[in-house]
Amino acid sequence: MKVDGKLTRTIWLEPDTWSVGIIDQTQLPHRYVTTRLTTLDEAAHAIKSMQVRGAPLIGAAAAYGLCLALRNDASDQGLENGYATLLKTRPTAINLKWALDEIAAAVRNQPREARVAAAYRRAAEIAEEDVVINQAIGRNGCALIEKFAARKNGAPVNVLTHCNAGWLAAVDWGTALAPVYTAFEKGVKLHVWVDETRPRNQGAALTAWELGQHGVPHTVIADNTGGHLMQHGLVDMAIVGTDRVTAQGDVCNKIGTYLKALAAKDNDVPFYVGLPSPTIDFSVVDGVAEIPIEERSHDEQATMTGRTSDGRIETVRVVPDGSAVANYGFDVTPARLISGLITERGVIPATRAALAETFPERAGVQPAGS
Ligand code: MRU
Repeated sequence: MKVDGKLTRTIWLEPDTWSVGIIDQTQLPHRYVTTRLTTLDEAAHAIKSMQVRGAPLIGAAAAYGLCLALRNDASDQGLENGYATLLKTRPTAINLKWALDEIAAAVRNQPREARVAAAYRRAAEIAEEDVVINQAIGRNGCALIEKFAARKNGAPVNVLTHCNAGWLAAVDWGTALAPVYTAFEKGVKLHVWVDETRPRNQGAALTAWELGQHGVPHTVIADNTGGHLMQHGLVDMAIVGTDRVTAQGDVCNKIGTYLKALAAKDNDVPFYVGLPSPTIDFSVVDGVAEIPIEERSHDEQATMTGRTSDGRIETVRVVPDGSAVANYGFDVTPARLISGLITERGVIPATRAALAETFPERAGVQPAGS
């Protein structure tokens, strides 16, 4: 998608053909900064500190991180060490493990001297596949948006989204926002309600920034606003992304998603989830019981970071000293609250049967420990 009118991706190989360029998302929306990753530790730090974040991008970054690890040590030990270091950076987004497994499978049976090239090849494919998948999600979701547009007599379709599942969360296009960008490019009139998404404000900082860069009309709202908007007919549909979808169609996504899905159900607002197939984890069934929910630093909850009127970036405390805080990163929306899953192979019901039928090659994966 575009930054200052220029087509840009979130991750790329630098001209040296081995180091990895990323947008440092911790600096957005106030500064657009790119940085270069040259080692396993730098890649692990970039994922852990959320310079790169969002499930599909975490996967692509982990894939390249393992390439960097192998460059330094292509032995079995080097592979294991790189895999383990990257796997523990973020616990919830399943794309991380999926991508590491893909790289490991691509190199494991290769002689040592061929491993680095094989790893870079597979990492580049993972990045390209992500773009192609998201374009297909865009087309499939756009058809849905067009259906709503047909009923609006020329008024914009109001789409509510939570967190950031736009192109910054992927290699390009995004998942939840791919349908929005596709519809926008086709000239469909639309407007996006952007949940700010405390505590890290990925909505206010990242979704608003990328929609603005692309010229898509949008309005940032406090996280608690969605229910009110839905009661007053101001939301036509919700589309969110996801960090992991279970075999039965439960959706794990940024904290607060579940509450939006409940409000949507109560107000008959269709609630859709955009997802690429690597985000499906067929080894888990009951998302509430089985998905590990990342608990993040208490500082994120107790503070806010922003730009002062004289241009300085400052972090201030918003919670009294001494108050306990908790910071759960994700929640799980049960499949029964979801109107449809927008996948690269079509819009499908959030059910075990539909997921298995649509992705039979993935559904064959045996549950962990079996
Ligand atoms: O903690 P983050 O920023 O990595 O969270 C991920 C997200 O942005 C959302 O949960 C998103 O909706 C899913 S990733 C496409």
